Amino acid sequence: MTSTGNDIRQSVSLAFEAVRPHLLGRFGKPYLYEAECESTQLLLLGSGLPEGAVAVAEHQSGGRGRLGRSWTAPPATSILVSVLLEPPTERTLPQLSLVAALAAAEAVERATALAAQIKWPNDVMLNRRKVGGIVSEVTDGTVVLGIGLNVNQTRDQLPLGAPTEPGSLRSLTGTTYDRAALLGSLLTRLERTYDAWREYGLDGVYGELGARDFLRGRRVTIDGEPATAVQIARDGRLEVATDAHETRALESGEVRFEA
Ligand code: BTN
Repeated sequence: MTSTGNDIRQSVSLAFEAVRPHLLGRFGKPYLYEAECESTQLLLLGSGLPEGAVAVAEHQSGGRGRLGRSWTAPPATSILVSVLLEPPTERTLPQLSLVAALAAAEAVERATALAAQIKWPNDVMLNRRKVGGIVSEVTDGTVVLGIGLNVNQTRDQLPLGAPTEPGSLRSLTGTTYDRAALLGSLLTRLERTYDAWREYGLDGVYGELGARDFLRGRRVTIDGEPATAVQIARDGRLEVATDAHETRALESGEVRFEA
């Protein structure tokens, strides 16, 4: 999975031929690959392709993050992937973000042998840095789930001014990673967590999710108000206890934690 720290090759590309040996399940059929595009989300939104279709790019000119933010990475350094899904109507999108973040955290753990965590509602954390994020967009009951994972960026290639301090697997471990193998691992794990969630809801993955809850017990601010995060609840909301002794369950939004 890993190459040595002084190996300066930026990538095996993420073209189908490189990733095919690592595609072990039904995700990746079909597999759309672009060296450059505006956003992998746009390759799948309204495409009419079946569940499990995957779009991957080496570089995006208009990568989309959550809350209208952009998502940037130099060419061929990271994983930029979108997956087309058709979840049952009774399942909620915020839960799907957690399910995807869990799969990404597991893939990061497998690659680095370090514990990765999930910062509610959608961030993948390693050593207190955000190494990945999830965004989902819906058209006509079809969800396009986008995952960005910072893999081989050097420290000075990471974006400035992000609300949560970013990191990459390389900047945090000093090792470069085989992105094709990591993408395959991510898609395999996503299929497993997604299927469990489809069948059982968040209860199907709650043990693994709860064990990786980054905010649990941390001091946080919510819309400027100080609080303590309690936990990700079984329905996917974030339980917090405010300093004014109120308990709240957040549906969405952004939580800042004390460094
Ligand atoms: C976040 O804001 O944390 C979510 C970032 C999601 C970025 C990924 S990269 C692949 C896919 N294509 C996009 O334009 N966005 C998502």
